[in-house]
Amino acid sequence: MTPLQIRHAAAADAATLTRRMADWFVAAYGHASDAANTAAFVAANFSPARQAAEIADPDVVTLLAEIGGSLVGYTQLRFATRAPDSVTGADPAELGRFYFAPALHGRGVAAELLQAAFRAAHERGRRRLWLLVWQEAPQAIRFYEKHGFAKVGTAVFLVGEDRKADWVMCKPLDSP
Ligand SMILES: CC(C)(COP(=O)(O)OP(=O)(O)OC[C@H]1O[C@@H](n2cnc3c(N)ncnc32)[C@H](O)[C@@H]1OP(=O)(O)O)[C@@H](O)C(=O)NCCC(=O)NCCS
Repeated sequence: MTPLQIRHAAAADAATLTRRMADWFVAAYGHASDAANTAAFVAANFSPARQAAEIADPDVVTLLAEIGGSLVGYTQLRFATRAPDSVTGADPAELGRFYFAPALHGRGVAAELLQAAFRAAHERGRRRLWLLVWQEAPQAIRFYEKHGFAKVGTAVFLVGEDRKADWVMCKPLDSP
């Protein structure tokens, strides 16, 4: 098993995190929209200033996964976003982003970061996690389903001006 270190992001991580966020988004979803919409999404979401603000935001928890000091994956929990109506039940939190370096996909390491996200949400008193995932991302959907998420609804996700059909998925955290 690859030794994975998981920690909370700090201000000094903003620049590296920004680069990896952009790289891994384009690697996973760059084929799914035209270049202008992909570039617009990257510019709007991934910048050192934006990441510094998210890292400093008490309603966002950014968890980093590292191997030998190198960033290989990250996730973000959002505690102040409004859950879609299809998410029922008390005390939800959003799993906002969850990405690993492409070279590590299929190696089983992503599960460890997801468990850390479950614990972090549970420690904040949240009882369920919800997320959006593109309906044409079978690997991610399978990953979430095998870790207890179920499809509960649909949503539209904007990549620039490109409207993507997403699933809303939810998982109870009563026994994280
Ligand atoms: C989502 C992600 C973190 C999952 O990590 P991972 O290492 O790929 O996860 P796993 O290998 O544990 O699980 C993936 C599952 O999908 C399956 N899978 C892979 N490709 C598939 C495909 N084309 N169709 C259906 N299932 C597929 C795998 O076989 C595996 O299922 P199994 O364990 O039952 O065999 C990783 O794929 C990733 O970073 N993807 C790009 C970013 C992304 O899409 N994030 C989610 C945004 S909502």
